[in-house]
Amino acid sequence: MRDVHLLQEVAAARTYCEAARARGEVVGLVPTMGALHDGHLSLLRRSVAENDVTVATIFVNPLQFGAGEDLEAYPRGFDDDVRLCAAEGAAAVFAPSTAEMYPAPPVTSLDFGGLSAVLEGACRPGHLAGVGVVVAKLFAIAGACRAYFGEKDWQQLAVVRRLATDLSLPVEVVGCPTVREPDGLALSSRNAYLGSAERAAAGVLHRSLRAGAGLIEAGERRTGAVEAAMAEVLASEALLGPVDYACVVDAATLQRREPLAGELRLLVAAHLGGARLIDNLGAAAPPP
Ligand code: PAF
Repeated sequence: MRDVHLLQEVAAARTYCEAARARGEVVGLVPTMGALHDGHLSLLRRSVAENDVTVATIFVNPLQFGAGEDLEAYPRGFDDDVRLCAAEGAAAVFAPSTAEMYPAPPVTSLDFGGLSAVLEGACRPGHLAGVGVVVAKLFAIAGACRAYFGEKDWQQLAVVRRLATDLSLPVEVVGCPTVREPDGLALSSRNAYLGSAERAAAGVLHRSLRAGAGLIEAGERRTGAVEAAMAEVLASEALLGPVDYACVVDAATLQRREPLAGELRLLVAAHLGGARLIDNLGAAAPPP
């Protein structure tokens, strides 16, 4: 296992990335909130394979948690996380304190228009704006780089892509496939909140996405019919709590399409015990 540089100050992280570029090296950035699982490790592996230097970031960003959400309870395991980053070949871990990242509460806010008005944006007001600010800061600190994000947070990925494009940031945003358990449950740090019965029930999210995608692939073009099929699968699981959404939208704009056409994304968010789980799946509706 190689030694990993632990960077805790913004200036140190910036200098580290600048020095790598000055040596002609390409920097890969893997932003995380820690509590690393195989999904994160797949991002690290891809970055290590595609870049000269990989910098993982570990920062539980208070700005993206709403009042009453799980900021305090969010799983943390710093020493294990650093060991995992080192084992995967990361060259450095940037793990700033909250005071280092936000010496003063930011007054700058980011609005992603229609992209952040729906789905997570509607259920968790301020969440995507908070993600946008911290990712913009990480991009500003790292400078020119490739940055790796999981497709599990599809809407976050869409927002981050627009952030880089709209602000001409010198960052290539790379989306990476969701890593799943054998029953289809998408890996997430929040799966740690599931008890054993809840864990056994959690595969229903993926089953619901597959049911919707299957209908589209079979030729269904009515949004309502696809969403009804997804809702029916979710309703079959007695342990599942409130469903925030189970819908199909255009994969790029996240807006509804009627009839369904082109590249689509099915997305679901539901409560299960103490966890709020999200997941998504792609489907293509070729012209009839
Ligand atoms: O996906 C996450 O872990 C976070 O939202 C991110 C991108 C690291 C920003 O805090």
